[in-house]
Amino acid sequence: MPDERTSTAARRRTVQQMVVVGVIASAMGIALGLSIHWFPAADSIQADKIDTLWDVLVIASVPVFVLVAVVVGFSIVKFRMRPGEENLDGPPLHGNTRLEVIWTAVPATLIVGLVAYAYIVLHDIEKAPAAGKPERVVNVTGEQFTWTFAYNEGGKRFSTTQLYLPAGESVKFDVHAKDVIHDFWVPDFRLKIDAVPGITTSYRVTPKNPQAIGAHDIVCAELCGLGHAFMRSTVHVMSQGNFAAWVRKQTAPPKPAAGGGGGAAANPQAQGKQIFTAGNQTSGALACATCHTLTDAGATGTIGPDLDKVLKGKDAAFIKQSILTPNAVIAPGYQPNIMPPNYGSTLSGGQVDALVSYLSKVTNK
Ligand code: CUA
Repeated sequence: MPDERTSTAARRRTVQQMVVVGVIASAMGIALGLSIHWFPAADSIQADKIDTLWDVLVIASVPVFVLVAVVVGFSIVKFRMRPGEENLDGPPLHGNTRLEVIWTAVPATLIVGLVAYAYIVLHDIEKAPAAGKPERVVNVTGEQFTWTFAYNEGGKRFSTTQLYLPAGESVKFDVHAKDVIHDFWVPDFRLKIDAVPGITTSYRVTPKNPQAIGAHDIVCAELCGLGHAFMRSTVHVMSQGNFAAWVRKQTAPPKPAAGGGGGAAANPQAQGKQIFTAGNQTSGALACATCHTLTDAGATGTIGPDLDKVLKGKDAAFIKQSILTPNAVIAPGYQPNIMPPNYGSTLSGGQVDALVSYLSKVTNK
């Protein structure tokens, strides 16, 4: 009796079964792959081409995966060891030149084709806007664990911790890092790039007009330390008119405080609480409540020490030093360099004093 695994008819039948199973599984896999919404809203003009590239990769990869899985699956079933075969040798195998040429040439062609297509898409979406118009460049700086955005709008320079962009205009991000590697990513825009200390990386996007108008998340996409998950910000895409008005507001000279020293200075503890819970968005001061626990402010952060405990019985000088020079005294169980060291520059002297005043009051009740 001829072995059911070696007769020509049996082999042909097996190949036919594999083809049928493979075609059905590929069709199902591609339908599933294309029906799932993998990505958030596509709010930059670059996003559509990236999403199409993704779809093409799904269509190309599913049959390759199915081919491998089906051949492996059939081999396991058809060529498994039967009882009584434990001591037999496998059949002698020889090279098959035609097969080897096919399985080298087909994947090579597929890979070269997909690489070329991906390269063309990337090259295409990173093109600078047409010459003649000055390009908007925003310098993005990542540091543990915050983002800063530096603008130069017609010679006026200012920085923010949330990103503001006009819809419909190309913007180039020059991305920097102060300490470790971060990664600047706006999922709704699709593109992302590492922020690497010592070098400048960059990419361009054009938020769709008017579809992109509104707020979008900014995410750090590179594990960069304990506060990585909190290293988030927001990009506000605005109409071009609103953006111009926002720029004017950023570059206007500061208004003198109203009426005899100003309401805020009259109640430094209220101002201190405000800074504690909200930080200072325009200067880049991260809210203390993001990382610390403080009952009075309803804060429950655990990245940094519990202030109800570590500030109990401490005087104003110690609190001020801990804000301005966080590494001077490290609370037991915590590491240095976790707290941003820049509060001396992102908060004014008055704001620091208000914060100190608030903290010494609520931790020494
Ligand atoms: Cu910065 Cu993760």
